[in-house]
Amino acid sequence: MHKNKLVVVGVGHVGSYVLADAMKAGLFAEIGVIDILDNVAFGEALDQAQATALTYMNNVDVRSGGYEQCADADVIVIAAGPSVLPDPDDPDGEPDRSLLTKTNCQVIREVMAGITRYTQEAIVILITNPLDTMVYIAENEFGYPKGRVFGTGTMLDSARLRKLLADTYCIDPKSVTGYMMGEHGSTAFPVLSHLSVGGIPFDQVGAYLEASADINDPDTVKTKIVSAAYQVLNGKGWTNAGVAQSAITMAKSVLLNERSIYPASTTLRGQYGHDGDVALSMPCIIGREGIICQLAVELNAWEAQKLEESVAFIKQAMRDAET
Ligand code: LAC
Repeated sequence: MHKNKLVVVGVGHVGSYVLADAMKAGLFAEIGVIDILDNVAFGEALDQAQATALTYMNNVDVRSGGYEQCADADVIVIAAGPSVLPDPDDPDGEPDRSLLTKTNCQVIREVMAGITRYTQEAIVILITNPLDTMVYIAENEFGYPKGRVFGTGTMLDSARLRKLLADTYCIDPKSVTGYMMGEHGSTAFPVLSHLSVGGIPFDQVGAYLEASADINDPDTVKTKIVSAAYQVLNGKGWTNAGVAQSAITMAKSVLLNERSIYPASTTLRGQYGHDGDVALSMPCIIGREGIICQLAVELNAWEAQKLEESVAFIKQAMRDAET
């Protein structure tokens, strides 16, 4: 019997935002909070608990504790481990998420060891960077049932893509349907061959709407979206709102068995010629059992090349972390 219970592991800048979004989402009756700093977990949970008396909050049973909270969890969001930091000497820099690989591989292994002591039922959604490597470890080293572990991947990159195009056409971002694929990072790429605006295929939109900027070159679009994260990071020192909402949106599709199609990071099982060697984002149907189906959409030549560049980047970062 499902309890509509969420557990958030790691309540730093990202996890605390996931917690805050979850408290207001109206999806969860219980929320467990875990952090390596017990006092921080306690304070975050108590802060949210006290707010349940206020108008826009739901009366969620929110409390801190250990991994035993995972035993009856429906969804577990992992946001543990350090985040990439802006370079104070390079305010316009592009901090490399893969520099976190060695440290966060250890973090994710510790977290998954804690979780799998109590459950292999819950759907696990990872946020920790470098995301695709974290998903690959969590999905393949702990015997967790296939599909029940995935990552936010390019869900946020895709939101950034839709927002960029919506601003260019001066329309609602939710009227843009499309996604980024590949690595959640510098090699993510837009799949413009499958993008539409109000149902109009991207290559025909120009006949209906005037674009305020040049967005027909996929390399230009790719560069703008990849750098969009750095603009937030260099501005406020971290990112959290977008990725937290990405995780909650995916959790909603799990909890309500919506079977929504979102770009999620998961291990490829033969798609695009890769079978079990890498995790990255592609369109997936997400429901109560997690990843129900990976949709290996046809890619044009540019997109197929970018996918291979993502694969190469992720694999190299994993090798570098092992040395
Ligand atoms: C970002 C972080 C979540 O892209 O990697 O905002």
